[in-house]
Amino acid sequence: MKRPRFIAQQSSHPQGLVGNVIARIMAAETVPENLHALSLLELQAGDRFLDIGTGHGSALLKAAQSCELDLAAGIDPSTVMVNLASRRARVATTTVDIQIKQATVASIPFPDRSFNKLLTVHTIYFWDELRRGLEEIFRVTAPGGLFVSCFRPGEDQSFRDSFPDGIYQKHSKTDVLNATQRAGFTLARNADHPSDERLKPLAFVVAKKPVGVL
Ligand SMILES: C[S@@+](CC[C@H](N)C(=O)[O-])C[C@H]1O[C@@H](n2cnc3c(N)ncnc32)[C@H](O)[C@@H]1O
Repeated sequence: MKRPRFIAQQSSHPQGLVGNVIARIMAAETVPENLHALSLLELQAGDRFLDIGTGHGSALLKAAQSCELDLAAGIDPSTVMVNLASRRARVATTTVDIQIKQATVASIPFPDRSFNKLLTVHTIYFWDELRRGLEEIFRVTAPGGLFVSCFRPGEDQSFRDSFPDGIYQKHSKTDVLNATQRAGFTLARNADHPSDERLKPLAFVVAKKPVGVL
């Protein structure tokens, strides 16, 4: 069964009261993939972390509470999401510098090479342009930095059948791997999670910006 269009629209850009409700449901639903993606980043004290399409900010706050990061930043184009994540950050128990900004992946409001650990979970479907987004992520990644993306791949028939076209762009895993490499990253390792039923349908791409490349 196709997911209703208005729910899909809200997932792509949460708005108003409904958006607030969807955000809370989403925060609960995407815990396993965010935890797996965070584990792949192997966060350490001193890291500079960016969550692209941070939404409700759960992964961002988890990262900020995991160790003494130098910076934990999140971007999201949705006002509802930025407000929600900012409210949650204000009351979170952490001393880490948390910055949440309203922006899309196409124009990340941070200088070149600002981050060495970057994450995006369930957002690439909504980017205007995959290539532009990955190039922009590459720009803000420091040499040697790691970038993890998690998404439902277009090869998955049930994903293709149940999520409405026009809102969800169903990129194949091959296309994402190729576009990630074309942006300048090297692919670090296959990080899918075939043994966990909940994570099985998801693709996890771990990419590294080569040392010595600006
Ligand atoms: C399905 S939610 C995922 C939120 C969170 N990352 C998670 O795993 O629960 C998609 C998020 O991507 C954001 N988004 C939509 N278009 C975006 C874009 N072009 N750049 C960055 N984020 C975007 C939406 O506002 C929304 O908060």
